[in-house]
Amino acid sequence: MMEQSKKRYRVLILSGAGLSAESGLKTFRDHDGLWENHNVMEVCSVDGFRRDPKLVANFYDKRREELKNAEPNSAHLELAKLKREFPDDIAIVTQNVDDLLERAGCDEVIHLHGTLVDLRCESCGEIFRVGYESQNSKECPKCHRDYIRHNVVMFGESAPKYQILDEINRYAEYFIVIGSSGQVLPIGLMASFHEHSIINNLYPENGVDDYFKKAIHKPATEAIKDISMEIREFLLTT
Ligand code: APR
Repeated sequence: MMEQSKKRYRVLILSGAGLSAESGLKTFRDHDGLWENHNVMEVCSVDGFRRDPKLVANFYDKRREELKNAEPNSAHLELAKLKREFPDDIAIVTQNVDDLLERAGCDEVIHLHGTLVDLRCESCGEIFRVGYESQNSKECPKCHRDYIRHNVVMFGESAPKYQILDEINRYAEYFIVIGSSGQVLPIGLMASFHEHSIINNLYPENGVDDYFKKAIHKPATEAIKDISMEIREFLLTT
């Protein structure tokens, strides 16, 4: 199968925490920076991990527990439907580490910040599924060492898949953002390269809206109807 970065998708759909908010998964910024009285940046940064690996493992165990009880919402389902209808025209890229798009039936999701349902072996680099279980007492299925960690990119680490995002953004004709504040990725700059672009958040976000042709300030499960219509019309008429 052709490398994802080599494919020339016509539509790039980039999602953030807002896509999964209506499934009950809090966005990091909802906690006003706190999680069980820990500073989220602490728990999600390399320094915090070095200082207290147990606390960080516990944080991700709790998020897996939450994810087990969450369900895909209608925005996940519609994105999965679009991807099935236009597999070679639409790239589904997300900053989210949840598996709700996959559970909605979406193949080929590109996770820029890793995946909560996997663990990574620090000895041999193997990435293996843990599902919604705790990482306690797990060992690498390949080298059988127990030097393992969450498969989620932390602040202070590089995100290798940004390269793929760049490639896809270069050739896409339509750029759509669903549920992201743009505090981590330069979505405004990315949008400025496109003639067709939509941003969907609950409210205007620190000036990024101005870079998009259209801004929809509604919950993703409502906005997805407009977005889906625009994408189908674009792909079927141009
Ligand atoms: N529908 C649409 N948008 C929503 C909804 C909703 N139901 N609920 C919240 N939003 C929007 C908010 O308006 C906000 O702009 O989703 C956005 C969430 O922004 P963030 O919490 O900053 O999430 P995100 O942009 O994904 O963060 C990027 O930063 O926290 C780190 O690595 C983490 O991947 C994450 C990255």
